[in-house]
Amino acid sequence: MEKKTKDIDRKNKEKGKSQVSSVWGGRFTGVPSDIMEKINPSIDFDKRFFVQDIEGSRVHAEMLGKQKIISAKESEEIIEGLNQIEKEIHEGNFQFKRDLEDIHMNVEARLTTLIGETGGRLHTARSRNDQVATDFKMWVRDKIDGLIEALSLLQKALINKADENSDVIMPGFTHLQVAQPVTFGHHLLAYVEMFGRDRGRFADCRRRLNECPLGSAALAGTSFEIDRDFTAYKLGFDRPTANSLDAVSDRDFALEFLSAASICIIHLSRFSEEIINWNSAQFDFVSLSDAFTTGSSIMPQKRNPDAAELVRGKTGRVVGALNSLLVMMKGLPLAFFKDMQEDKEPLFDASDTLEVCIYACIGIVEDMKPNVENMLAASDQGFSTATDLADWLVRVLGLPFRRAHHITGEIVKLAEQKKCRLVDLKIEDLQNIESSINEDVFEVLDPVKSISSRISFGGTAPVNVAKAVAKARKRFL
Ligand code: ARG
Repeated sequence: MEKKTKDIDRKNKEKGKSQVSSVWGGRFTGVPSDIMEKINPSIDFDKRFFVQDIEGSRVHAEMLGKQKIISAKESEEIIEGLNQIEKEIHEGNFQFKRDLEDIHMNVEARLTTLIGETGGRLHTARSRNDQVATDFKMWVRDKIDGLIEALSLLQKALINKADENSDVIMPGFTHLQVAQPVTFGHHLLAYVEMFGRDRGRFADCRRRLNECPLGSAALAGTSFEIDRDFTAYKLGFDRPTANSLDAVSDRDFALEFLSAASICIIHLSRFSEEIINWNSAQFDFVSLSDAFTTGSSIMPQKRNPDAAELVRGKTGRVVGALNSLLVMMKGLPLAFFKDMQEDKEPLFDASDTLEVCIYACIGIVEDMKPNVENMLAASDQGFSTATDLADWLVRVLGLPFRRAHHITGEIVKLAEQKKCRLVDLKIEDLQNIESSINEDVFEVLDPVKSISSRISFGGTAPVNVAKAVAKARKRFL
């Protein structure tokens, strides 16, 4: 080390500051400023993928040995050292150092302490740029597997609930106005479809990300005779990435993951909103368990749907993470920039948030009990069978639908004036509006009849729901 560097090191040591980096310090004489030491390190968060980092390094070392780029003995020593480090981290006996910036350099520095100069051979034919892209892809891949599993559990809870409630009647809404009666089971199965698409999006993202960047080195590839197929397959990738510049600068997988996560948590927020509405005194459609509600510190009568509110509220964090990464990536030329270190914290936060929200919804669904009478009573309000009446005028009297719609409108107006349900109107009242209406019409004005008639494919009839439940079990579970 030059004398000047030594002097600076001594002075900094006196001040308790770090020394010139042992990893990249070759051409540096000065040390980072205090601010740099604050802004630069990623170890506080990227230590989270130490498992992936060490696995990537082990396979890289194996490949270097196999290709005789390092000796077999060196390869073994490195792998043993890495095993030891992995154990130390698992057991909480590893000291992470901020002046070593990130997980990659923390592991390498410890390796060199453990096995001496041979440790310095691990970084042959790679760079932190391809290393971090590989680690992060592997981490996202594992997370996707966990989220897909969580989503299938949520689907299972919904399907089971739908099965128990295939013929429970509730009002279906549009514009939050009573529209037509539907079955509770059918309503729950709508969410099963949404979460099925979410699983599909995560699976697509996983498929596309599964190309291994390792061996792309800093940006241009390497002059060593590496075997990229070997490392790719050993690390569970389908193939190595085709272009080294793209490989080190691509964060599409993180963007896709966060897009899928955002859509998914938006679904969860919609579901939560329904729960919050249904749980209110005004609706009183469902009862939630103590496990997912809280009381008020002042109002003894309260049972607040906090879990659902939090799921709805946390949506902002996940969508925010997507936004944050989109803006971070915007306009970045090839290849690697330190900007991209900012990809991790939002993604970690978003995936943790999404995971806990999915499990919260599973709990809410499993414990939720429909208040069947209230739902039925509500579905008999708001002229919910008006469409059934119009359809009857078409089917039985042969009227064109537009005319039937108009006549039904007049009948609804009359019921509104009389402050009664359609079914409570007298046959004479109806005949005053359309003389050919007969007593049979009352049949279709009952919500029970209404839902049973909705047998078109994908419709709400209880027979359909029972079939859809069986199908959903096959498709998703
Ligand atoms: N800590 C960095 C990250 O999280 C690793 C890559 C650093 N590469 C570099 N050339 N500075 O992205």
